[in-house]
Amino acid sequence: MLQSSLIRRPAGAAAAAMARSNGRAANGKSTPVQQMSAKDTSSMVDAAATGRRGTAKMNHNAAATARAATDAAIAAGKRVAQDAATNAALAPGSKTIAFLGFGVMAKAMAVGMQSAPNSPFGKYVLCDNNRKVLEGAASAITAAPATTTRDAEAAIVDADVIVLAVKPQGMTRLLKRLPLKENHLVVSIVAGWSIDRILSTLPERDPAKQPRVVRTMPNTPLQVGKGCTLYATSEACSEADELTVEAMFSSSGIIEPLTEAQLDAATGIAGSGPSYVALFMEALADGAVKQGLPRDLAIKLAAHTVEGAAAMCTEAGGGLHPAILKDRVCSPGGTSIHGVTELENHGVRKAIIAAVAGATKRSKELNKI
Ligand SMILES: NC(=O)c1ccc[n+]([C@@H]2O[C@H](COP(=O)([O-])OP(=O)(O)OC[C@H]3O[C@@H](n4cnc5c(N)ncnc54)[C@H](OP(=O)(O)O)[C@@H]3O)[C@@H](O)[C@H]2O)c1
Repeated sequence: MLQSSLIRRPAGAAAAAMARSNGRAANGKSTPVQQMSAKDTSSMVDAAATGRRGTAKMNHNAAATARAATDAAIAAGKRVAQDAATNAALAPGSKTIAFLGFGVMAKAMAVGMQSAPNSPFGKYVLCDNNRKVLEGAASAITAAPATTTRDAEAAIVDADVIVLAVKPQGMTRLLKRLPLKENHLVVSIVAGWSIDRILSTLPERDPAKQPRVVRTMPNTPLQVGKGCTLYATSEACSEADELTVEAMFSSSGIIEPLTEAQLDAATGIAGSGPSYVALFMEALADGAVKQGLPRDLAIKLAAHTVEGAAAMCTEAGGGLHPAILKDRVCSPGGTSIHGVTELENHGVRKAIIAAVAGATKRSKELNKI
């Protein structure tokens, strides 16, 4: 049985995984092909080979049919082998994960990951430059044993999955002597740093010996289980690697696969977005204070209004298009349309589009700094 069925998947990721997983049933359960043993697999491959020898004696149509059967048998055999690898990769508690940099985001990620049922991570290594950060860090990890170190090389010795979680400006210093190898799955949360740049900064130059890399962009609401994480994978990554990454983030919100080219724009909306929404809430509260409400109440009302409106636009809340929500609130000649008119007069829509463009541009620049 595939461990992937244990992962809470958002619709987009599920669709992407379905596209990747040829023979897998829509409900995530193994098909009869997936339930075959390794012995079955080898008999299928043997049968496929025998099938190949026989085709020479057949007529053209029969040969084509035999070839198709052969290819299907080989594909099915490969699928079984892949699924066995995926099961092994996601076996509960089977993996060691090392965080290089254990600041705000890494800690939020690690804490969120622990609530995932049947997590593949059975051991945590927390590495940070900063002694203060490491003080008490291991006590944040309650689901599995955790150790701390200030030595990045020592941290990766027994690790299967390595999370890069330092600031973009600290990446060159971290990576240039780090002996990452092909048996490592590297998951970067660092803004702007492309997969190519990560690989070309590592000391190992032989492509066959380099680690598999997944570039992600999480956002801070993952601290409260409401994060948005986007990710793109290097060519060497397997389906098991993608499922491993989904297992890391899916208990802290939604996770969606993207092309790497889309990740800068995703940074512009989701990575940086909480700061725009915070500014909007603060301004809402200022407006209410100006109209005479006490500050505490104004902030509470601003936050709950944003949370409530957002919930109506998510799938769980009915998936309303924001324009429909706005139109429903704006009754003819009413208060809301007068407020919306003021926002439009002050160019709020234009300013927000420019904010996403500015953050996207900065994300691209960070790949060069
Ligand atoms: N915050 C967000 O909203 C957000 C969202 C998405 C992605 N990210 C990305 O997440 C990454 C981390 O952000 P953060 O806010 O968590 O930063 P942070 O709180 O500053 O954490 C980074 C930690 O890494 C340590 N460090 C630096 N170089 C190191 C090294 N060579 N070995 C071990 N530890 C090292 C730092 O220690 P020192 O301070 O002593 O150097 C610091 O404690 C960034 O690349 C950022 O782009 C952040």
